[in-house]
Amino acid sequence: MSTVHVLEHPLIQHKITYIRDVTTGTKEFRELVDEVAALMAFEITRELPLQEVTVKTPVSEAKAYTIAGKKLGLVPILRAGLGMVDGILKLIPAAKVGHVGLYRDPETLQPVEYYVKLPSDVEERELIVIDPMLATGGSAVAAIDSLKKRGAQNIKLMCLIAAPEGVQMVQEAHPDVDIYLGAQDEYLNEKGYIVPGLGDAGDRLFGTK
Ligand code: PRP
Ligand code: URA
Repeated sequence: MSTVHVLEHPLIQHKITYIRDVTTGTKEFRELVDEVAALMAFEITRELPLQEVTVKTPVSEAKAYTIAGKKLGLVPILRAGLGMVDGILKLIPAAKVGHVGLYRDPETLQPVEYYVKLPSDVEERELIVIDPMLATGGSAVAAIDSLKKRGAQNIKLMCLIAAPEGVQMVQEAHPDVDIYLGAQDEYLNEKGYIVPGLGDAGDRLFGTK
């Protein structure tokens, strides 16, 4: 069974509070999502392997460390996942970015795939699937299915806010995929929204309704 990590860093928690706030406007919402994504990337990359190198300082030679050439890939689920990409790229600028386009049918709540474009060496990469919201879990499971069908072997899932139902669905469908969350909320309402949640992440990021 996969592990669920709720990233309890005070800065992440503080910023998610303002992201949740109904009075936070589009500009500030977008900036906060970007900042939280960067902070979450900092936590999620804790275990990256290092290699020893030698660097010449103005004073002498130093034995030091660099990331050991791990190939990373980000896979935002369109559209709301896009809001987290730039924040993560600030910390991991060389990561390749694939896209999986899915929307949730408002009646059935089932995910509908409309676009997939991935790095060609997807099977060699450690992929981080990103989406602010893990609600029923249908979109995340479908995105991960889609990646595995194309050869991906090493996948993590990163979301700002999850409902217990979504976490359970991903764990059952993909027990090899560890899940990283900013917060785990209480339940899904009858419309499939996370309670208390933050509302519709895509609409709040892009100012649509
Ligand atoms: C939202 C969200 C997730 C999905 C979560 O996207 O960004 O992708 O819903 O719900 P689920 O866990 O029940 O599948 P939405 O379908 O609203 O599309 P959008 O990103 O284009 O707004
Ligand atoms: N998608 C969202 O954007 N918000 C929710 O609460 C659930 C799904």
